[in-house]
Amino acid sequence: MKISIIGTGYVGLVTGVCLADTGNDVVCVDIIKEKVEAINEGRAIIYEDNLEQNLRKNLKENRIKATTNIEDAARHADVIFISVGTPSRENKSIDLGFIENTSCDIGKALRNENNYKVIAVKSTVVPGTTENVVIPLLEEFSGKKAGSDFGVCMIPEFLREGRAIYDFMNPDRIIIGEYDEESGNVMAELFKNFSCPILRTNLRTAEMIKYASNAFLATKISFINEIANICELKGIDVNEVAEGIGLDKRIGPHFLHAGIGFGGSCFPKDVSALISSTDENGYEPKLLNEVMELNERQKLWPVKKLKEIFSDLKNKKLAILGLSFKRDSDDMREAPSISIINFLLKEKCTIQTYDPKATENAKKIFGNRINYCKNIDECLNDANVCIIASDWDEFKEIYDKFELMKNKIVIDGRRMLNPEKCKELNIKYYGVGYKNG
Ligand code: NAD
Ligand code: UGA
Repeated sequence: MKISIIGTGYVGLVTGVCLADTGNDVVCVDIIKEKVEAINEGRAIIYEDNLEQNLRKNLKENRIKATTNIEDAARHADVIFISVGTPSRENKSIDLGFIENTSCDIGKALRNENNYKVIAVKSTVVPGTTENVVIPLLEEFSGKKAGSDFGVCMIPEFLREGRAIYDFMNPDRIIIGEYDEESGNVMAELFKNFSCPILRTNLRTAEMIKYASNAFLATKISFINEIANICELKGIDVNEVAEGIGLDKRIGPHFLHAGIGFGGSCFPKDVSALISSTDENGYEPKLLNEVMELNERQKLWPVKKLKEIFSDLKNKKLAILGLSFKRDSDDMREAPSISIINFLLKEKCTIQTYDPKATENAKKIFGNRINYCKNIDECLNDANVCIIASDWDEFKEIYDKFELMKNKIVIDGRRMLNPEKCKELNIKYYGVGYKNG
């Protein structure tokens, strides 16, 4: 099929590359010229396993290209995906500015088009957005009618950063929210070779399924973090508890890894947007409010431990391993490391950091207020304490490197190390949900 994708961030570029890889003819659109040039030159603007390699392969085979010209892209396509950002406003409600602009632009581009096309929203939008915002703008600016002149769908995306290509190609399910049956049929045809259940719903149900999924996963993380905090007080290891409860098929083993909270571009903003969206209905989502509050508290768990260890943090040298919100990603959005570092800077600590991929993004946040090291050794050198803030694989086997520290003390925010081995090596170990003390 001929596909155009508006917005080439994590979701747009991955969708474009994967749909090209499955034999479609793809045009990616972005308003940022540098992103478009990078794509056409075969450079992925984000760090994501296999993305650049697959982009280059499909560029070579002429199945993908990028442009800033939305009219060309609209003319080209049978299906136009909208995958622009839906960030939080200051008050945490969803900012639909990019969605509105894109809907206007597509509407204008459709004005002189006579072929039937389906517009599919892939961005995460609060229930009612496709019906109440996207369709009216498309109709107004195109002078055409949804459901007859063009089709509309809402296809939420469930990929994880760091596993984006794999997740896109191997989804647990595909949700097709459809304005009408014909629109849904076009989408079902596009995804017919994916071997997973396809659920067809109306537009607002699809929008809600996306929010409910993210809210549930965020709740599961806050739940296990709450259990971790209780375990710590009672001298129990939460990892064993997670294993034990995860064996119950009704609970399942996934998303039970206790840590210093969820970050990233999605859980925090999406749970907040869902909470905000209930204002207009006069409903108070108490559970979700608590999930968010607990998460904010959990991000500062390493600071709580530090205060137990030292009465004064001033001039302490802290090594922070991991800056990104999770492993295999250079994304710093809402990363717990930000809350930790901001707190420690106020306490006048010296901070040396190391992250395999996120350093450049971290520099945009902290500038020269912290030190950026080239490797783990440099980061640990002469430090009073090491805090592990994201779960990169390379932090797993670093026991001998703690010899480089002034004091061999580790605060393991991601449960990367074996506490018993630390004990054998005289490394003072504090782990989330571990029987510390
Ligand atoms: P992003 O910010 O990385 O990328 C969005 C892109 O859209 C940017 O490159 C921006 O320049 C471009 N853009 C904005 N306005 C435009 C316009 N009018 N025309 C053309 N391009 C325009 O965002 P993302 O992380 O890819 O997320 C996109 C959406 O997908 C969000 O709603 C997000 O919640 C959702 N989502 C993200 C993920 C993820 O892992 N990042 C997963 C599932 C769903
Ligand atoms: C998440 C969802 O997993 C995707 O399904 C969804 O599409 C995406 O949000 C989105 O809507 O954008 P992502 O944010 O990329 O994906 O990463 P996750 O692997 O879900 O991790 C999110 C955060 O939770 C990370 O900070 C991670 O460290 C933390 N986490 C995850 C835990 O603390 N414990 C766990 O057991 C799992």
